[in-house]
Amino acid sequence: MHTRTLGNSELSVSAVGLGTWASGGDFWGQVDDRQSIRAMQAAIDHGINLIDTAPAYGDGHAEALVGRAIAGRRDLVVVATKLGVLREGERFIHNLEPQSVRREADDSLRRLGVDTIDLYQIHWPDKKTPIEDTLGELKRLHDAGKFRYLGVSNFKPALMDAVRREFQLVSLQPPYSLLNRKIESHHLPYCRRHGIGTLGYGSLAAGVLSGKFREIPTLAPGDKRAQFYDVFREPLWSAIQRLLDTLRGIADERGRPVAQVSINWARREGGVTCALVGARDVEQAVSNAGAGEWELSEDEIKRIEHAYKQHLAALL
Ligand SMILES: NC(=O)c1ccc[n+]([C@@H]2O[C@H](COP(=O)([O-])OP(=O)(O)OC[C@H]3O[C@@H](n4cnc5c(N)ncnc54)[C@H](OP(=O)(O)O)[C@@H]3O)[C@@H](O)[C@H]2O)c1
Repeated sequence: MHTRTLGNSELSVSAVGLGTWASGGDFWGQVDDRQSIRAMQAAIDHGINLIDTAPAYGDGHAEALVGRAIAGRRDLVVVATKLGVLREGERFIHNLEPQSVRREADDSLRRLGVDTIDLYQIHWPDKKTPIEDTLGELKRLHDAGKFRYLGVSNFKPALMDAVRREFQLVSLQPPYSLLNRKIESHHLPYCRRHGIGTLGYGSLAAGVLSGKFREIPTLAPGDKRAQFYDVFREPLWSAIQRLLDTLRGIADERGRPVAQVSINWARREGGVTCALVGARDVEQAVSNAGAGEWELSEDEIKRIEHAYKQHLAALL
């Protein structure tokens, strides 16, 4: 597994990270807790050291499963969780008020069963709370040893400027995949300039970039991924299939799954530091970890770029 240093931190992270949104059990349809835990453990066994979770994933359920999966192996894992998004029934509420931040940190530490969080990320901005108030509370938590490094997610450069005035900011977690390249123009250059690492989420665009769906799928009851990943629609869908033809060609030549080609594209030189990928079971976790073992060649990246420009650039 290739590893990299995350921004200006001392954290060495695997080039592929495991995401645990689906393990929360309340947004991606039916998931089996034992399978989720086994998938997390298999990921660690296969060289993934960064596990990304959040209280918002199943209202704490995903964090609790991570805690069970890493029990006894805490030293092998960079524990990355988040704050600032809470579940209220079906809704996701943004709340970065200091008292909420304080409560969340203690809840996350308890559920994860750890003394300190390695990477604590502000999940989304909260327009109602001045960022300085949130950062003041985070400073107290940091001084108390409750987390080691601060990251943000879904932040624009101007808001990252405000964070950096008060705190060492080591990472940004933005969406990044072949179906969402919005960060390439501003966010990625900004992060490179300021020593901020990047954890790209949705590397498979909710599984679509694994190539397993030949048609727009009818998702199972309770599977709400299409509300977040706006890719299950025409004419985009047909264009994605043309891109997948190219990815399949490269996958066949390499003897690798299509998903690995997509993940490797996201973490290529010039892409994100670590590509986060969700996994429902051991098979997916192990297969996705394999993307950290090899690199796309320059020629393969050019072929993907050509297919992207030809089929998708005008639609995204
Ligand atoms: N900061 C944020 O706001 C934010 C937002 C979204 C995600 N994230 C983080 O990023 C992580 C990754 O993103 P994501 O989980 O949303 O999407 P993703 O990684 O693009 O897709 C994950 C899903 O794809 C399917 N899959 C995974 N590996 C596969 C394989 N090898 N072959 C076929 N299908 C495969 C699985 O679902 P099925 O088997 O059910 O199809 C899995 O749950 C999240 O888990 C979370 O930690 C953060």
